[in-house]
Amino acid sequence: MIQRFILGGAAAAALTLAAVSAVPQVALDTDDQWYPLPEGEGVMEVYYACNACHSLRTVTNVRYSRSVWDELLTWMVEEQGMPEFRDSEERQMVLDYLATHLAPEDAPGGGVPVMSAPTSPW
Ligand code: HEC
Repeated sequence: MIQRFILGGAAAAALTLAAVSAVPQVALDTDDQWYPLPEGEGVMEVYYACNACHSLRTVTNVRYSRSVWDELLTWMVEEQGMPEFRDSEERQMVLDYLATHLAPEDAPGGGVPVMSAPTSPW
């Protein structure tokens, strides 16, 4: 996990735990077309771009700031084998969606600690 990348043992464990136990899911209808992604502009792009290798839960389980999502997209492409976006417009759409719908402040209580460590490897 990214957290392990960045943080030392105890902090990583705490963060992982927080990510598992403390992140509330947005109230969603499992019949929603894009479940578990909340409706919104760019949801289709995110659905198809992010569903290929892991559950979309991997995406909705975290809350990151725009800059961390930005880095994560680059990391997905460069290190995890995600295909490049068709163009910068598509990438922007995905980034906007993530930054809007899966932002730290969406989570009650302020959300999970965001990866703001200055030691980011990206
Ligand atoms: C080509 C495969 C692939 C695609 C496509 C892909 N991912 Fe990933 N993703 C991975 C792999 C592999 C991991 C696990 C990496 C690890 O934990 O070392 C991962 C992990 C993650 C994580 C968990 C990292 C963390 O913070 O703990 C998030 C969030 C994530 N991906 C978001 C996305 C998003 C958003 C998209 C779509 C824009 C996407 N992924 C598309 C391969 C992919």
